[in-house]
Amino acid sequence: MAVNRRGIITVLVLAALAFLGWRLVRPLNIFIVSDAFERPISTREVPAPLQTLSAAECGGCHPDFYAEWRTTIHSRAWTDPYFQTDWQFDNEQQICRNCHTPLDRQQPDRVLGFRDREKWDPVLEPNPDFDAGLQHEGVTCAACHLRAGKIVGVLGNTRSPHPVSLLDDPNQVCVRCHVVEGDRWDTFFRFPPCGTVAEIEASIASPGFSGELAVQSTAELGCVACHMPAMERSLVEGGEVRTVRQHLWRGGHDPQMVKRGLKVILQETESGRPGRRVFRLTLTNVGAAHYLPTGTPDRHLVVRFRLMDAEGRLLAEQEHRLVRTVLWRPFIVDLRDTRLPRWQPRSYDFGFSTTGSPPPAVLQVDVHYYLVAESRRKRIGYDNTEPTHFEVFKQRVGLPAKGVGS
Ligand code: HEC
Ligand code: HEC
Ligand code: HEC
Ligand code: HEC
Ligand code: HEC
Repeated sequence: MAVNRRGIITVLVLAALAFLGWRLVRPLNIFIVSDAFERPISTREVPAPLQTLSAAECGGCHPDFYAEWRTTIHSRAWTDPYFQTDWQFDNEQQICRNCHTPLDRQQPDRVLGFRDREKWDPVLEPNPDFDAGLQHEGVTCAACHLRAGKIVGVLGNTRSPHPVSLLDDPNQVCVRCHVVEGDRWDTFFRFPPCGTVAEIEASIASPGFSGELAVQSTAELGCVACHMPAMERSLVEGGEVRTVRQHLWRGGHDPQMVKRGLKVILQETESGRPGRRVFRLTLTNVGAAHYLPTGTPDRHLVVRFRLMDAEGRLLAEQEHRLVRTVLWRPFIVDLRDTRLPRWQPRSYDFGFSTTGSPPPAVLQVDVHYYLVAESRRKRIGYDNTEPTHFEVFKQRVGLPAKGVGS
């Protein structure tokens, strides 16, 4: 009997170890493929007089919109070297194309169906309509504007040569690609993998968050209001002047946009002890309805205090990361989230002795926004030519002068 019991326990332990081992090496699918983006957008019906669906074609009549779009990361969603490196590192999964090059003719293959229930293993066939030029346009005009053979818009009072179908709320356009769910039996996400929408819902819901979703309609999300600033101009050259939305979509790649969302204050506070000074840095997300930073968990802020002597030699240093930390293996668990929810100030204190030798002469405090962590950049072999981080705040305080100078 004893031998038998030991045998059973051994088998159970081995099975548990094998399960954990498999969880540690299995392919990791961090999001759920939803109906919204499991397939590319159909371009079977192209409304006359349009032909190629290229941005340049739309731009022939809508030059201002085209010029703006060309400055954005949407226009580089395919060519973006960080995306390309990550995509290749991740075995060039088909599903990534459905948001980064969402039109069917932007894709070299057609999706006929799926081999697996989770829809990560599509059945493909070469696409005779594939257009490599269009692929390079990433999130092109038609990705947002073409649905069922019509151009979607919100104005409804224009005289356009192409058919228009009206949306009651422009934010509906954004959610197709800016929402990915992660809920599965084996995941423990607090927010979905790219949690922008859920973060807005949580901010609207608190205080007194009762659990149910606070956002009843996409209109409350406000994406377009903040990311496509309004102005007066005509849609086409010589056309009627209307209130339109600029096609700018500034975000993590734009220092000005990040600065606009972030309020940073450095103040000296009571140390309560002679020979000691304490400085307090307070950061508040005043400009983004979602968390700051938001989007992919790559994005983070780094706060750095540096104390130096008169020669500029480092005496002491303190660093804080405002980041969403996810444990990926063996189970996906949201471990910690130190990013900034809207309107909730966060403070960091830095204290030091003024009587040390050599005496401190300068305190420097800076905040940097990171698009991607250095460790991840190295791991996937992303050989960046553009900087992966930039400064959003910096202040130097001369010591021992009391109070904050610059
Ligand atoms: C041959 C010229 C031409 C081309 C090409 C063209 N448009 Fe237009 N479009 C117009 C005109 C003209 C209007 C109406 C302008 C007005 O009345 O102020 C218009 C209106 C619109 C509207 C507003 C509809 C509404 O009611 O909200 C959208 C959106 C739009 N176009 C998007 C596009 C997109 C996207 C493309 C390319 C796929 C495109 N257009 C190609 C001429 C063109
Ligand atoms: C067809 C899919 C798709 C749609 C629809 C879409 N986006 Fe995006 N968006 C993307 C992708 C993909 C990226 C990232 C591209 C990259 O960095 O390679 C992105 C990036 C962004 C960024 C980040 C800019 C940065 O600097 O990193 C902002 C802001 C943004 N989108 C806002 C919007 C808003 C607002 C809407 C709705 C009007 C919208 N998007 C609709 C796919 C989409
Ligand atoms: C990421 C999604 C997205 C992309 C890409 C995009 N648009 Fe738009 N566009 C919108 C939304 C949303 C609106 C409605 C804005 C509003 O509330 O008026 C709009 C509105 C318009 C309008 C009508 C004026 C207005 O502001 O309502 C025109 C014209 C237009 N777009 C042309 C273009 C052209 C040309 C391109 C490509 C060069 C393009 N769009 C790319 C999302 C997009
Ligand atoms: C009240 C204004 C506001 C609203 C509403 C808002 N945003 Fe933002 N968004 C910002 C600001 C400011 C930033 C730059 C700071 C940051 O990254 O949080 C930003 C950054 C972003 C980024 C950049 C993340 C990255 O990876 O680079 C994305 C994507 C984005 N927003 C998408 C959205 C979407 C989608 C919605 C609607 C569901 C939305 N935003 C609603 C203000 C807003
Ligand atoms: C549901 C739509 C969707 C799918 C599917 C998707 N992405 Fe994205 N991706 C986005 C959006 C939206 C952004 C930008 C906003 C953000 O940071 O969340 C983005 C941003 C990125 C970025 C950051 C780019 C930069 O310039 O910083 C990388 C890298 C990326 N995606 C890789 C991938 C890979 C690899 C896959 C497939 C495994 C994939 N994406 C699938 C929508 C999608």
